[in-house]
Amino acid sequence: MTAAAAQGEPAPDEAIFVVRDLSVSFPIHAGLINFGPPRLLRAVQEASIKVRRGTCCAIVGESGSGKTTLARTLAGLVRPSAGQVLFDGLSVGELDNRAVRRMRRRVQMVMQDPRAALDPRQRVGEVLREALVVHRISRDRADQQRRIEAVIQQVGLSVVHLDRYANQLSGGQRQRVAIARAIIVEPQALILDEPVSALDVSIQAQIVNLLIELQEQFHLTYVLITHDLSLVGHIADDVAVMYLGRLVEQGLASEVIGEPAHPYTASLLSAVPGEDPEAEKAREVSLLEGNIPSPLALPGGCAFHTRCPHARQLARGLGRDRVVTVDGNDVPRICAEVAPPEQHFGAAGGHRANCHFPLRPAS
Ligand SMILES: Nc1ncnc2c1ncn2[C@@H]1O[C@H](COP(=O)(O)OP(=O)(O)OP(=O)(O)O)[C@@H](O)[C@H]1O
Ligand code: SF4
Ligand SMILES: [Mg+2]
Repeated sequence: MTAAAAQGEPAPDEAIFVVRDLSVSFPIHAGLINFGPPRLLRAVQEASIKVRRGTCCAIVGESGSGKTTLARTLAGLVRPSAGQVLFDGLSVGELDNRAVRRMRRRVQMVMQDPRAALDPRQRVGEVLREALVVHRISRDRADQQRRIEAVIQQVGLSVVHLDRYANQLSGGQRQRVAIARAIIVEPQALILDEPVSALDVSIQAQIVNLLIELQEQFHLTYVLITHDLSLVGHIADDVAVMYLGRLVEQGLASEVIGEPAHPYTASLLSAVPGEDPEAEKAREVSLLEGNIPSPLALPGGCAFHTRCPHARQLARGLGRDRVVTVDGNDVPRICAEVAPPEQHFGAAGGHRANCHFPLRPAS
């Protein structure tokens, strides 16, 4: 039995976020003077995912794949163009003002760059007090002070930091303040958008350990956006892999990382440096080749077919009638022309990926 279950907490499999067929598009105008209709940039396409309460769900993918847009939609900051986001059973796009306020408190975001996230003219104590006031948690000055002093210590700083301005703090200290500002309002979920990637490598592990401690202490749900797959192995229960706005693979982190089914996930994993420098030198790294295509001109079929090393290899064993040439490389025709169906892997069934030729047998 998990600690949460022992304390009468909801079962960990209960979903706090349910995302169904979510699409988010942004209208793009060609220039200052534009008479035609705007083009649509499809940042998220038909994404479905559940985030289990009290767990950490990582979202990974290259720059521009739609991770932040998906996360901002979960936090109610971006409206779905189609599909639905449920938070605690309520449809985020259909909440009245009061429910929106309640949700904004329950789902807090921590951004990548703590320098941009904190006002340099505010003292740390004021930053934290403002969060209490904005979310209508406490009006009583003494109670506010008690909460502020408790939270600053929970994030590993001390009361002396309350009088400092953000620009008098180091990067790691600023990110601790940003985390304190999020947890002081007693949220249920934190959306962590690249929370350590702007920090020195030496500081990153400290912040990751702090996040792990806080999650346990307050039974928080995390949605963690990261480029760093080694971080996923360390902190995440579940992982979802995004490519050009689509969730191409998802499941338990141990399964997806241990035995990926989608060639894109495998390519991302092969780009993760190992810990042993000697083994690294000997390793054949199949780093991702080519640029990610523009989301304004998405490739047909499987969107990864313009870069997929697995498709190129498979094409060598196929007759001419079953391949097409894309950017000078042969790939199976089906990859270039037909959207891949969702397939399921492993005994539990939660591991799924969209690929015509997955790297492991489907269940
Ligand atoms: N408000 C917006 N208006 C127009 N386009 C947007 C907007 N927000 C995001 N985009 C576009 O949507 C696509 C996905 O962006 P998003 O920021 O979600 O990706 P990401 O995976 O978080 O990337 P990164 O790793 O660089 O942060 C990109 O092409 C981006 O330019
Ligand atoms: S469907 Fe084809 S192109 Fe897409 S990931 Fe699978 S093998 Fe590669
Ligand atoms: Mg982003």
